[in-house]
Amino acid sequence: MSAVTVQFNRHFKAVNQTHCRYRALRGSAGSGKSVNIAQDFILKLSDPKYKGANLLCVRKVNETNRNSTYAELTGAINRIYGDRAEEFWEMRQSPLSLKSRVTGNEVIFRGVNDARDREKLKSINFAHGKLVWIWIEEATELQESDVDILDDRLRGILVNPNLYYQITFTFNPVSATHWIKRKYFDFVNPDVMAHHSTYLQNRFIDDAYHRRMMLRKEQDPEGYEIYGLGNWGETGGLILKNFKVVEFDTAFNMFDSMHHAQDFGFNHANAILTVGVKDGDFYVCDEIYVHEKDTSEIIELANRHGLNKYLTMYCDSAEPDRIQMWNNAGYRATAVVKEPGSVQAQIDYLKQRRIYIHPKCVNTAKEIQQWSWKKDKKTGLYLDEPVEVFDDAMAALRYSAEPLRRPEMEYSNQRPAGW
Ligand SMILES: Nc1ncnc2c1ncn2[C@@H]1O[C@H](COP(=O)(O)OP(=O)(O)OP(=O)(O)O)[C@@H](O)[C@H]1O
Ligand SMILES: [Mg+2]
Repeated sequence: MSAVTVQFNRHFKAVNQTHCRYRALRGSAGSGKSVNIAQDFILKLSDPKYKGANLLCVRKVNETNRNSTYAELTGAINRIYGDRAEEFWEMRQSPLSLKSRVTGNEVIFRGVNDARDREKLKSINFAHGKLVWIWIEEATELQESDVDILDDRLRGILVNPNLYYQITFTFNPVSATHWIKRKYFDFVNPDVMAHHSTYLQNRFIDDAYHRRMMLRKEQDPEGYEIYGLGNWGETGGLILKNFKVVEFDTAFNMFDSMHHAQDFGFNHANAILTVGVKDGDFYVCDEIYVHEKDTSEIIELANRHGLNKYLTMYCDSAEPDRIQMWNNAGYRATAVVKEPGSVQAQIDYLKQRRIYIHPKCVNTAKEIQQWSWKKDKKTGLYLDEPVEVFDDAMAALRYSAEPLRRPEMEYSNQRPAGW
């Protein structure tokens, strides 16, 4: 083997040794969870001791495996085997899969987004051995019932006595009311290894990352609790609590009206939501959520995504040029006029509705669970102002309220008076 060595963070040692049925890794951003789990699985799957073991990687939305679990696992293979990686592992792009050329052990990738995905989980078979390990990355995206389906897959006698069934969860602890906390952290259970890690324990983190985290601590202390310290998100200052992540029919004819809403972004996310309204309630049916893409790239993406061009698209008024580009591409983009106090008014409006989020809108679901009011540092009281991080889908959601909140406004593609 070429001279490549793989290194581990010490604080994951017990995680990598446990045979508990559930290992739940809660941690801050950058604590090293994903890299550790990927390396752990590649070493185990390559080891003849674990012959007959196969791994299923799960994200809520299957396509997101490519840039997360698959990228982490192939990254681990490349670090471990260097330029001889291909000799030891077969790495397929389509369908995504990995196979050890030494043990014949395999890795496959699935989502749990809809009935079709769930049906596919029933027909998992491997050439050798059984499905014994499941890695659920960004596990807070899943519903409890999704995990129950996966859990059911791990059963039956194992021929190789070294094998054991195990589900691994990796996630940031977005909210203290999340079912994962109740199920795996709130009581002692010998089948569960509950683990906590922060970026401060990750010896591979650079100084710039530390500085960014310190800035977040300053600007968004509650977000820092979750993403800097890996503590369960506080729900006290949450802006919206009137939401549910549930499946529903997203067909156009299910709603009284339907429209898009877009918050522009480059370093921040660019978020486009498709929102249906029925009996005054909001249904977030679809999302496009991307970073570091320019407007023409996003338009191309939206075209491929099949975004409905006949629906009005309510956009951030600060960027008339971008609105124009969307219109030139055949969309019905229009500016939402900002006035003093309009953010609060939009939030007030949203608070009085029920908001349903389709589970495929994972970023909207993530944002809404942590979107909170700023806290006054001196008094500890919440202010009337949202924390301005990780709020791009929330901005789009606010814009989506405008045609209902102010139906008298004329939304045109022209600049409103006074611009
Ligand atoms: N064992 C390791 N060897 C080398 N580099 C590592 C190792 N573990 C972590 N790192 C470095 O630290 C970074 C953060 O680690 P990782 O992506 O695993 O964090 P995470 O806990 O999954 O974060 P998030 O919650 O944001 O997904 C990696 O991108 C990598 O650069
Ligand atoms: Mg990760």
